[in-house]
Amino acid sequence: MRYLHYILLSVIALILMGCNTAMPTIEGDGYKFSPESGMIHFDEPQRAHGQQSMLGYAAEPIPIVRVGFVGLGMRGRDAVSRFTHIEGVEIKALCDLVEQNVVGCQDFLERVGWPEAEGYVGEEAFKRLCEREDIDLVYISTDWVSHVPIALYAMEHGKHVAVEVPAATSVAECWQLVDTSERTRRHCMMLENCVYDFFELTTLNMAQQGLFGEILHAEGAYIHNLAEYWGAYHDNWRLEFNRTHRGDVYATHGFGPICMALDIHRGNRLEYLVSMDTKSVNGLAIARATMGAEEFANGDHTTTIIKTSRGQSIMLQHNVFTPRPYNRLYQLTGTHGFANKYPIEGFTFLPGKLPETLLPAGAVINPHNFVAEDVEAAIMEAYKHPIHREIEEVARRVGGHGGMDYVMDYRLIYCLRNGLPLDQDVYDAAEWSAIGELSATSAKHNSMPVAIPDFTRGEWNRLTGVTFYTK
Ligand SMILES: NC(=O)c1ccc[n+]([C@@H]2O[C@H](COP(=O)([O-])OP(=O)(O)OC[C@H]3O[C@@H](n4cnc5c(N)ncnc54)[C@H](O)[C@@H]3O)[C@@H](O)[C@H]2O)c1
Repeated sequence: MRYLHYILLSVIALILMGCNTAMPTIEGDGYKFSPESGMIHFDEPQRAHGQQSMLGYAAEPIPIVRVGFVGLGMRGRDAVSRFTHIEGVEIKALCDLVEQNVVGCQDFLERVGWPEAEGYVGEEAFKRLCEREDIDLVYISTDWVSHVPIALYAMEHGKHVAVEVPAATSVAECWQLVDTSERTRRHCMMLENCVYDFFELTTLNMAQQGLFGEILHAEGAYIHNLAEYWGAYHDNWRLEFNRTHRGDVYATHGFGPICMALDIHRGNRLEYLVSMDTKSVNGLAIARATMGAEEFANGDHTTTIIKTSRGQSIMLQHNVFTPRPYNRLYQLTGTHGFANKYPIEGFTFLPGKLPETLLPAGAVINPHNFVAEDVEAAIMEAYKHPIHREIEEVARRVGGHGGMDYVMDYRLIYCLRNGLPLDQDVYDAAEWSAIGELSATSAKHNSMPVAIPDFTRGEWNRLTGVTFYTK
């Protein structure tokens, strides 16, 4: 009888242990939950033998950069036009699925007096373009799912790559870009143009000079009602991607400039995120009306919060479905000051934190309000980034989202011609693009924390801050 008590306790313990082992595990394609960290972790492959980091990598100078364009839809054809305003460039080849897009760009080159570029048409025609000996850079502006296959093929054939946003659509694809770039020693730059916008680059300059004190929180977004545009994408690729993918699938415009201001993988590191989305109402309605869809994966509004190793938080939002003014937020909250781009552009500072020389006589700095317009204008002029000081006028004339697209292309070609490290490296492309699948994974698992892979494989502290190299 005395032992019955122990026997009963043992049976209960065994049952509980049984329950424990039968607990559902959270596991998916390339990721699983770790009880030690309390987070979901994606697989982080080891660096292959002989492969080296691309941090700070500079290739041999290329005096005349010979370019092949793949994807000549709305975005690609504008890029071709912008390149005709850049010195030291030859446009050698043009490729698209649609012959008319190729012919249209060839006609354009003829009209502006540029030499003829060879045309390639078809799904796999990019391969022939990449195989050419006389091309240095492949510039990719196709739909999202074809970015990585084309970029990999180009790097494998010795070409540097510039690829539209987001560079990749999954964490595994991000690793493919990193590994192929490291192995082939070819640049792979994502074409994140918002980094070069006037407010963003000025604000980065201010952040680097300590105007905001210590930055503690940042916000970015892609809030852009695409209702009128869905039908314009080739073969409906964008709506189809949103129909089948949850999460912040277009994070890089809001995220890229923030990562630069926070020195991500240049002394700071993205640690983990949590994400929550709404149900889909407008997305489903448009997909039902235009595609007969019964389900729609992408929530109408997705919010993601990220923690960095310096103890900062970042909030990102994605909403391309509901009626709202266009908004990328671009907001920095520092211990001494605050910057905000959308919906109202302005700065706020603690009294005494702005150089006196910027303040008109008698100006009062109120830490509850934006600084007055004349003070903001003085700040924008005083902290204008050296790149803008050099090429603002041409950039505004050539245009492309007000000039930032030209600044981006100009810098890419400038760095290649001078054998300098590019402003954005393959780790930026991977970190900023990975938000898509990482946020989707968190949202699918009741907003569980998801660790953000370190695509530099432990070298995130080697560089110090963002550098825009000049010769
Ligand atoms: N940075 C920005 O501000 C910005 C703005 C708009 C679009 N984009 C990006 O640009 C890219 C293209 O967008 P878009 O609006 O021009 O779309 P689009 O549908 O107008 O153009 C895509 C083009 O790619 C071509 N294409 C697809 N697969 C191809 C292949 N295998 N070989 C050759 N051509 C192929 C299509 O025929 C089409 O002409 C996307 O990645 C998008 O996210 C970036």
